[in-house]
Amino acid sequence: MIVVTGATGTIGRALIDRLRAAGTAVVAVVRRPEQGESLGCDYVVGDFDRPETIGTALSPGDRLFLNSSLWPGFVHRYREVIDLARSAGVGQVVKVSVRGAEPGALLGGGMHGEVEAHLKASGLAWSILQPVGFMQNLPAEVSFQDGEGRFYGSYGPGRVGYIDARDIADVAAVLLTRPVGADQTYVLTGPEAPTHDEIAAAVSGALGRTVRYIDLPVGELTGHLERQGLPGPVAHDLAELMAQVGDGRWSTTTETVEALTGRPPRSLARFLTDHTAAFRL
Ligand SMILES: NC(=O)c1ccc[n+]([C@@H]2O[C@H](COP(=O)([O-])OP(=O)(O)OC[C@H]3O[C@@H](n4cnc5c(N)ncnc54)[C@H](OP(=O)(O)O)[C@@H]3O)[C@@H](O)[C@H]2O)c1
Repeated sequence: MIVVTGATGTIGRALIDRLRAAGTAVVAVVRRPEQGESLGCDYVVGDFDRPETIGTALSPGDRLFLNSSLWPGFVHRYREVIDLARSAGVGQVVKVSVRGAEPGALLGGGMHGEVEAHLKASGLAWSILQPVGFMQNLPAEVSFQDGEGRFYGSYGPGRVGYIDARDIADVAAVLLTRPVGADQTYVLTGPEAPTHDEIAAAVSGALGRTVRYIDLPVGELTGHLERQGLPGPVAHDLAELMAQVGDGRWSTTTETVEALTGRPPRSLARFLTDHTAAFRL
């Protein structure tokens, strides 16, 4: 059986769709029953904050897709779930991480780095997906005022190979349905790495409205993010992370999506065509 955590999330929903379309048996882990009903597949109610609720859903030989958003208890709870998966005799764990994850890195990079280390030491068979930023973040980042859209960052002229999260789901579906292979980390990117000015131009073209990228120094972006409601330390680390990414560390693209799925990753243009309605004009 394939057990999918984070099933109501961006990747999770796309993964469930892929697996169901292929007629593959899947169990979604959801926090509330009505979420399971909306997915239209078998489900169990489980919460990472109560690891035993996920542990009891696991049987020998299951293949576990391990994913959720981040919260302060993330590392501790993920370690517990990994230990329960080991005890249950799970046959493979496919975990979503982030490119460049390592203990001590900023924000999710550090948390994922610690969980990766625990998973690798667990004795379980593992595949780790390390995507860069998702194209799906864009609609929420662009805000419109007086007919003009803006989004903010500290990337400078740095290029980023943003990925369409549907491609992460496609990769996960392949890894969860083919025979379990060697433990491996897969760095996942889109097909090209635009600058943020180029992204703004592409969004402008797709929406037929002017959208501009506003680049700010880390200190100013921190204040901007705080005014949007982020706690100060998180706002600072997020701005700092953008500046780090701007040094080019996410500017290279990989062939991994195509190698695993047999087709190139979706382009930004394709994403924008499919998600025009998600922008709040
Ligand atoms: N966004 C990016 O640009 C980016 C880039 C690289 C890596 N990542 C990684 O991608 C992952 C997020 O994937 P995503 O965007 O598909 O997720 P998402 O859309 O944010 O959805 C989060 C999912 O996690 C579930 N969840 C949250 N807390 C939970 C808990 N305590 N117990 C059980 N389920 C819980 C949510 O369930 P509910 O519906 O019940 O809330 C939901 O299904 C993170 O690990 C992040 O670090 C993101």
